[in-house]
Amino acid sequence: MGANAVRKVALITGGNRGLGKDMALSLAEAGMDIILTYNANQQEGEEVAERIRASGGRAAALRFNLSDASAIDGFIAEVQALMNAQFDGAERIDFLVNNAGIGRAIPLDRLTEADFDTFANIHFKGVLFLTQKALRIMNDGGGVVFITAAADRYNVPNYGLYAACKGAIEVFSRYVAKEYGPRGIRSNTVAPGGVPTDFNDGFIRHNPKLQEMVVAQTPMGRLADAHDIGGLVRLLCSDDARWMTGQRLEATGGFNI
Ligand SMILES: NC(=O)c1ccc[n+]([C@@H]2O[C@H](COP(=O)([O-])OP(=O)(O)OC[C@H]3O[C@@H](n4cnc5c(N)ncnc54)[C@H](OP(=O)(O)O)[C@@H]3O)[C@@H](O)[C@H]2O)c1
Repeated sequence: MGANAVRKVALITGGNRGLGKDMALSLAEAGMDIILTYNANQQEGEEVAERIRASGGRAAALRFNLSDASAIDGFIAEVQALMNAQFDGAERIDFLVNNAGIGRAIPLDRLTEADFDTFANIHFKGVLFLTQKALRIMNDGGGVVFITAAADRYNVPNYGLYAACKGAIEVFSRYVAKEYGPRGIRSNTVAPGGVPTDFNDGFIRHNPKLQEMVVAQTPMGRLADAHDIGGLVRLLCSDDARWMTGQRLEATGGFNI
């Protein structure tokens, strides 16, 4: 990045591990200043931030729990204080990547209200209000990327609650696109297929039979890795994607098309 180029700031939830870690590293590689969040695993968050700083970038890790919408105002204030102190007095972000999330198979008949609250808080309410409040501190010309799931199109038994929350966010994303387009702010969703991360207790990573099935049904003929998703997020947060908004991009290597 040239000395006079305006630096951009990306806020990535769940940037300490899994898909979010690659997003943080990929956006840092593109020259952005990175604020990544973790919930429970602080050390991994600090390590990702340190890795970015070690390669000449600017990054910091903050704790953020999507389950508690009442804490979002305080979190946004922390984000601004951090930018002010560490990113040359910056007060506004350019990109928000709503990545953090949890997964669990729950047969519909066993679903409880407590499960509903857990998933809806993390995957819908928390994401919606974080986005609302982050948009208030976003520069014109910025963007929001929501990580949803291919499983909200091709339906996987026992993931109804999870997938329904992701589907709700896809609708919400189009409304963000509509309401914030006049400010040049774009909003898109990336819907990954299975990636062998820690997600859902490493269900794909620990299940060779499932991996074989996925590879056999994937036209591109392999399992996904985190950069298959992180690279696409980087594209969406670049000027090369400046005319794309309100879209859902499924990244699965062609699984179940
Ligand atoms: N991997 C897949 O197969 C797959 C497929 C489709 C969609 N996705 C979506 O991709 C996103 C990332 O998944 P992943 O594979 O990277 O999962 P992962 O490896 O399990 O990582 C989950 C991330 O979410 C954070 N997190 C969990 N609960 C949180 C909470 N209550 N508040 C804030 N942050 C929280 C975790 O932080 P801590 O480490 O601090 O707990 C971690 O950074 C999720 O939205 C998921 O639904 C994943």
